[in-house]
Amino acid sequence: MEDILVISKAVHQDTSGAISFLVTLCGFDDIMKKQSIENEKGRRFMDKKIIAETDRLILRRYRATDIQDLYEYLSNPKVLEYEPYKPMTMEEVKENLESRIASDEMIAVELKSTGKMIGNVYLGKCDCNSLELGYVFNEDYWNLGYARESCEKLIENAFEHGIHRISAYCDPKNPNSWELLEKLGFTREGFLQKNVYFWKDGHDQPIWKDTYIYGLLNSKEN
Ligand SMILES: CC(C)(COP(=O)(O)OP(=O)(O)OC[C@H]1O[C@@H](n2cnc3c(N)ncnc32)[C@H](O)[C@@H]1OP(=O)(O)O)[C@@H](O)C(=O)NCCC(=O)NCCS
Repeated sequence: MEDILVISKAVHQDTSGAISFLVTLCGFDDIMKKQSIENEKGRRFMDKKIIAETDRLILRRYRATDIQDLYEYLSNPKVLEYEPYKPMTMEEVKENLESRIASDEMIAVELKSTGKMIGNVYLGKCDCNSLELGYVFNEDYWNLGYARESCEKLIENAFEHGIHRISAYCDPKNPNSWELLEKLGFTREGFLQKNVYFWKDGHDQPIWKDTYIYGLLNSKEN
C-alpha cells in the first residue's frame, strides 16, 4: 500500500514539552514542505495519513469523508450513554468532525475489509509524558474485538515511542469500558465517589457520577 506511512522511531517534542508519538511519522517534515509547495497534492497526501495498522484495521487521522460514518455513532443514544455529550444532529457532527480532523489526539478506526470508519480511539496528551485513553465505537461493531485490537496497537506504539504511563477514567456502570481496560492490562487504581456530573436533573441539581481510575505503565522502562 504505497500511501501508508511508517511510524518512525523518533519522539517528537512539541512546544509545550509534551512528547507526541502520533505526529512522528516518517517523512513528516518532508510532507509538510510538500504541502506548502503543492497544496492540492499535499492535501491529498495528508488525507491518507496512517498512524498504524493491525490485521483488520487502519488507524488514521480523521478526514472530511468520515461524516456519514461519524454521524452513525454520534447520533446513537446507546453509544453515548456514558459520554459527556448528547446525541448529535448532522450539523453538530459536521462541526465536531472539523475539530477531529485538526486533532492528532483523535484516531479514526477504519475496517480494512470495507473502508468503513467504525469508531475512534482518543489518546490525549497529559503532563509527565503520559496519555489518557478513551474510545467510542459504532454499536454495530461492538463485541467483535475491534476496540481491543485498535487500543492494543496504539498502546504498543505509545510505549515504543517512550510514553511513560497511560490513564483511563470510566463509569463503574459501564463494564464494556472497564472490562476492555482490564483485557488491555490496565490496573484499577482508584474509585472516586460522586466526583463528577455531566447533567443536571429537573430541579437544576447535579446528577453525580462515580469514576474508576485505571492506569498502565510502560513495562519497557527501566
Ligand atoms: C467500550 C467499547 C469500545 C467496548 O467495545 P467492545 O467491542 O465491547 O470491546 P472489545 O474489542 O474488547 O470486544 C469485546 C468482545 O469481542 C469478542 N470478539 C469477537 N471476535 C473477536 C476477535 N476476532 N478478537 C477479539 N475479540 C473478539 C470477544 O468475545 C470480546 O469479548 P470477551 O473478551 O469478553 O470475550 C464499546 O462498548 C463502546 O463503544 N461503548 C460506547 C462508548 C463508551 O462507553 N466508551 C467508554 C467511555 S469511558
